[in-house]
Amino acid sequence: MNRSVQQKASHVTTRRLLDMKQNGEKISMLTAYDYTMARILDRAGVDVLLVGDSASNVFSGHSTTLPITIEEMIYHAKAVVRGVHDESGRAMVVIDMPFMSYQLSGEEALRNAGKIMKEHECDAVKLEGGRVIADTVKRITDVGIPVMGHLGLMPQSIYKYGSYRVRAQEEREAEQLLEDARIIEQAGAFAIVLEKIPSALAASVTRSLTIPIIGIGAGIECDGQVLVINDILGLNREFHPRFVRRYADLNTDIENAARQYVQDVRQKSFPSPDESY
Ligand code: KIV
Repeated sequence: MNRSVQQKASHVTTRRLLDMKQNGEKISMLTAYDYTMARILDRAGVDVLLVGDSASNVFSGHSTTLPITIEEMIYHAKAVVRGVHDESGRAMVVIDMPFMSYQLSGEEALRNAGKIMKEHECDAVKLEGGRVIADTVKRITDVGIPVMGHLGLMPQSIYKYGSYRVRAQEEREAEQLLEDARIIEQAGAFAIVLEKIPSALAASVTRSLTIPIIGIGAGIECDGQVLVINDILGLNREFHPRFVRRYADLNTDIENAARQYVQDVRQKSFPSPDESY
């Protein structure tokens, strides 16, 4: 199935997100890593699906986002884009550029962003960083590829920080973050994710910038919210930071379903005649 922005009038675009900010409509964003989930989330009306490099954690079981490769991101992204195309086609799909796919040089970043856009038919790429990557953001947006920024806690820099604690609590770091957000907006980004920073700072960035600000652990004043789908579904029992609201306990539900299945097989109650040919 082929989609074009004209064909699907409801498709969420960068323009639509800007209008939402201007009209005070909140933007909903969730991560997705596979076809089935993308279909469900698109059907549910989620505005933006992020193929996050958090796939490295929740799909592959790595302790950080660093190991995921561009080929692995392409695999997840293709599945998600296919899911959206096969459902309402409404959700915007944004792909995280993985660690070291955009940091080496502007040219390499552009090549990889182009590869992602060409191979995935997605809507935009997301990059972590402030002033250090401003030229790269400009270079990518100049050729027509929409870029979403990511500031605050940047998981690709976890070894530099040494912990996942709340960022920009001190005045100097807070001022730097606001300045970085302005620079990334100036460089051409259409939106910025702010991760795990004080609500008051996120509110100030949201008010100061024209482009939409999407928060994760950044309070209610942002223009929108993003969470990792596995977290809101309660798939991981061990991971429950304060910024995650759990809407289901699928860890328990799946375990119970699998236990019941094992029992039915062992007790020879599955398959029944009705479930057989
Ligand atoms: O990779 C990811 O899931 C993200 C979100 C946490 C914003 O970047």
